[in-house]
Amino acid sequence: MDRDVIEKAAEYVAALLGDDAGGHDADHALRVCRNALLIAKNEKECNREIVALAALLHDADDHKLFRTENNANAREFLALQRVDPETVDRICEVINSVSFSKNRGRVPVSAEGKVVQDADRLDALGAVGIARTFAYGGLHGRPLRDSIRHFHEKLLLLKDMMNTETGKQLAEERDSFLRAFLDRYDRETRERDERLDRKEGQDPAR
Ligand code: NI
Repeated sequence: MDRDVIEKAAEYVAALLGDDAGGHDADHALRVCRNALLIAKNEKECNREIVALAALLHDADDHKLFRTENNANAREFLALQRVDPETVDRICEVINSVSFSKNRGRVPVSAEGKVVQDADRLDALGAVGIARTFAYGGLHGRPLRDSIRHFHEKLLLLKDMMNTETGKQLAEERDSFLRAFLDRYDRETRERDERLDRKEGQDPAR
């Protein structure tokens, strides 16, 4: 496959996802691609082109963003680039195995799926994960405490769900950062509540 196709895919997702304010922007796709290729280096029998294209296109038909069926955006782009139909199917299979809603939380079967899923999960952890979680919550009109709950209910579980050794190592560090952030957040909000409680306790009018 042409290297060109990968560059064109990056341009395509930049135009398609653009500046999505909920954290599924083109930069997310590029980070997932970069991290997926990093993880793929240590995986045997992993097709790097498929990894790169699936990573770049993994949100091209995300149901949160588009109403397409059967990976229509990804398929249309790949067909225009004359990628052979068998490879297109493999790429779409990887994309669908990464998506939680499409795969219902099952572990991807292919090596490429495992790698791209790990890379997508890494982007939900660390400083980037924190930024993206609040951006998504804000875009959907949710209060901060909903995002905090999302960390506890979902994102803190990701570290133990990673598929690859490299993914696990990278997730470990990002998970620690996330926990440090949540501890600090908890401390600051608790301090404030305690101060308010004290103040209320001292007020004879109450
Ligand atoms: Ni994603």
